[in-house]
Amino acid sequence: MKIEFVPSSRVDELARLRMAILTKEMAQYTTATKETSPIRIGIYDSSDRIAGYVAINRPEDGHKTPHIDDSWKDACEIRGLMVSRNHRGQGLGSLLMYAALRFAQVSGYTLMIGSARDTLVTWYQTFGFIPYPDESYTIGQQTYIPGYLRVQDIRPIIGQCPVSWCLPFPPATPNACVHGNGSTEVNDTDIIRADVLDAPFLPSPDVRRIVHDAMDMQYIRTTPPDPIHLKNALAEARGVRVDHILVGPGSSALMYTVFPQWFSRGSKILLVTPTYAEYPHLLNSIGCQVDEVPETRDVVDIIASRGSEYDGIVMVNPNSPSGSYIDDLERGLKHVDITTRVWIDETYIEYVGQHTSLEKYASRSPNVVVCKSMSKCYALSGVRVAYLVGSGVQLEGILHPPWWVSRVAQTLAIAALTPQSRVYYAEQIIETKKIVDYMIHMLRKCGLETIGSPMASYITCMVHGNDANSLVDALKAQGIYIRVARGYPNSVRIASQPWRKTRRLLAAIHEYMNP
Ligand SMILES: Cc1ncc(COP(=O)(O)O)c(C=O)c1O
Repeated sequence: MKIEFVPSSRVDELARLRMAILTKEMAQYTTATKETSPIRIGIYDSSDRIAGYVAINRPEDGHKTPHIDDSWKDACEIRGLMVSRNHRGQGLGSLLMYAALRFAQVSGYTLMIGSARDTLVTWYQTFGFIPYPDESYTIGQQTYIPGYLRVQDIRPIIGQCPVSWCLPFPPATPNACVHGNGSTEVNDTDIIRADVLDAPFLPSPDVRRIVHDAMDMQYIRTTPPDPIHLKNALAEARGVRVDHILVGPGSSALMYTVFPQWFSRGSKILLVTPTYAEYPHLLNSIGCQVDEVPETRDVVDIIASRGSEYDGIVMVNPNSPSGSYIDDLERGLKHVDITTRVWIDETYIEYVGQHTSLEKYASRSPNVVVCKSMSKCYALSGVRVAYLVGSGVQLEGILHPPWWVSRVAQTLAIAALTPQSRVYYAEQIIETKKIVDYMIHMLRKCGLETIGSPMASYITCMVHGNDANSLVDALKAQGIYIRVARGYPNSVRIASQPWRKTRRLLAAIHEYMNP
């Protein structure tokens, strides 16, 4: 069974249902009546016959509920909720009521008016219906009580009924994936934003020169639909074929574009965890069956022995949030069947070394793709640019909009790939690693033990003898943002900062831990 909008081409079937229920069973009408509401939600049985439906009128469709005056003019109206006799007792009525309330909610109505048959008022009340018993009225042999429901009182009932939800809006408002601990909402240059993983250094002088000197033309001129100059610069800098690169506006945009084209409801995915929160969020939203495997040394053996059982393998290397790096992934990957798509996120790979990336391996592989954000190691978080490396087997068929990486982003990314820029970034990575080592050393002194050996610009550490949440809150009160680390007990994740801010951050932690 499925729940879906009823198209105009099928309103005659609703008329038959109305005839059976309203005219024959309930003697409400003496003749056949048509459903005139433009919004109809139906439940279809396994033979694609309509087993029940609910109709909704918006204010502009005209309200029919009697005794409801102008003060209700901004509400929508539930009409004609009915389920055919042989489908009753399965919760379909509740599902239709829920779907009508969800429609009202996603359409922006706060109230829904309607009338309950007198024998069903108690049932309506389970959804929060407030009846006006003094205003009851009759149609044929039926008595109705008008009233209203508050849309905000909606309680999810989905899951209790074996019906697939095929309406264009989801059964419940999806939870957004949370990033950081609030620093992105604060506009103050003085705060420390160690809750997000932005680069602790500025973009290269070549990038900043463009921002100063030549931006006017970048704003005005149209964007090349295929970012060929950027792809050439990447191919040259990374030593891979230009047609094995797909550029996108950030790696998050790439994963949100590619995964729904690769995977679908029920796809089996092996996800190495803990991981960047968007991965489980997106895979679960698609409806994939996700098996989580912890990022221990055995991961390579697990990938080698069980990887081929999956439609996809997703991992971040070096990992976020731990910063741990798995150095012999190729050993596992070569046993994975070509039918298993492998996505390796190398956002922080520069912290491991110059020649450790699997981009070249992916470029020759029929099933492995490397995703590389330019947000972090090129300090271009606000610019939104990233790329995939893989052979045409995986990349050629991917659909994406034209012009989706702006001219400005393309130009700045090209400037970030010049030989001088590459030298600059390599120096910044070395400096950041010094900052991270210093942080690990100083935090240990305060009783915060780093998890693993981080190969990235951030660290995750366990808070001994204190509560991680309280530490995060105490620092936030001083304008220092760090965050609790997902996936580890009583731990925090701290992103490195330039030296001055790092010292301020460490001093605040020291003070908190040693009052
Ligand atoms: C592992 C990982 N991949 C991707 C991203 C997001 O990158 P982008 O800015 O390219 O969307 C992040 C951000 O923190 C990350 O940690």
